[in-house]
Amino acid sequence: MTPLEAATHNDPYDYYAGLRLEGELLFDEGLGLWIASSARTVEAVLAHPDCRVRPLHEPVPAAIVCGAAGQVFASLMRMNEGAGHRCPRAIIEPALASVSLADVVAQIVDPVDNLNQFMFTLPVSVIASLLGVPQKRLQEVAGMTRDFVACLSPLSSEAQLRDADAGAIRLRQMFSAQLEETELLMHIRRNYDTSQWQDPEALIANLIGLLSQTCEASAGLIGNTLVTLHRRPELLEEIRCAPPLAVALVEEVARYDSPVQNTRRFVAARCVIGSRVLEAGDTVLLLLASANRDPDANPNPDSLLLERAQRRTFSFGSGQHQCPGQRLALNIAAHAIRHLLSLQPAMLSRACPFSYWPSLNGRIPRFQTSGKTAVSQPSEFCA
Ligand code: HEM
Repeated sequence: MTPLEAATHNDPYDYYAGLRLEGELLFDEGLGLWIASSARTVEAVLAHPDCRVRPLHEPVPAAIVCGAAGQVFASLMRMNEGAGHRCPRAIIEPALASVSLADVVAQIVDPVDNLNQFMFTLPVSVIASLLGVPQKRLQEVAGMTRDFVACLSPLSSEAQLRDADAGAIRLRQMFSAQLEETELLMHIRRNYDTSQWQDPEALIANLIGLLSQTCEASAGLIGNTLVTLHRRPELLEEIRCAPPLAVALVEEVARYDSPVQNTRRFVAARCVIGSRVLEAGDTVLLLLASANRDPDANPNPDSLLLERAQRRTFSFGSGQHQCPGQRLALNIAAHAIRHLLSLQPAMLSRACPFSYWPSLNGRIPRFQTSGKTAVSQPSEFCA
């Protein structure tokens, strides 16, 4: 197994434990990557100012640099350091932190006949709705977002890249037009209007970024929670008796079986991490899912415990780029589970055969369903 194959392996956790035993940063000759597997090393790399989110020579992947998707990518806080990161983050993060889901999910959810469709569509629809997209356009927006996220994969075909450009153009048009005045959108606008940073195109790109960041990672979290419930019927019984426990369940699944197994950092200048010297141009693969299982971060790490004290989860990153949507993502996933539990309990109790969508970093179950699956294929996403 390689650290990239581990993301979609049936059980990569013994393999990760073996990597942690080998010590701090390891160099994988085959992949040409440094590998960080322990909590301490992952945290150190994510905190290091010379370990950047993009390679210096390629701020936007060459395959998309000329199109609309590339223009959006170039402005995303996720893909920038310095002002290009700090300014949109200062506007959006506090707004995300204060928003309430209230009964947005209940208004959006339709009866579920295809789990895959449900996992991919619901979280994006919730965020789009919070951002003022009218209900009748939510399905369409979920489709455009899936088209756009394809551009984040280095393995996308020409056709997928063309669709990503078309998705980016349509999403940009949508956010440029009049939307409903929701609490989240007004909060973002207020923060923007009172800030020194005036770049309307970049602001819109970062609203699109909220949808794209939500899409696959949240699908993975819901899917991995469903897999856990199929494997552990006693947990299903616990949640059935006390539905609020769904939040603790998704929090623990996010740690135990992370939807985002790894992320990357690109070394901008010679630096030292632990006892290793990294050179400018090196790339580090950070095994977030392995750090979650490090006994130094979480005692008894291989047990799935709803009542875990001081859970440390690296699935949402750490440091400056730590996910600002963590609380929303967990709440949306918990709502999704509670919705299925109350209205379609058979969906939770019936074990559904699955494999993982091919990916270098995402762990997203693809359930076998009798219905048609209208979901494009993820391969690597930038959570
Ligand atoms: C289960 C769901 C999610 C997971 C596992 C997840 C995970 C992550 C991770 C690991 C990062 C940091 C990547 C890195 O530093 O390399 C990140 C960044 C980010 N996430 Fe999430 N995310 C999820 C859902 C969401 C949602 C719902 C939103 C928005 C509503 C969101 C918005 C963002 C943004 C904007 C960033 C970039 C932050 C920055 O660069 O400062 N994410 N996410």
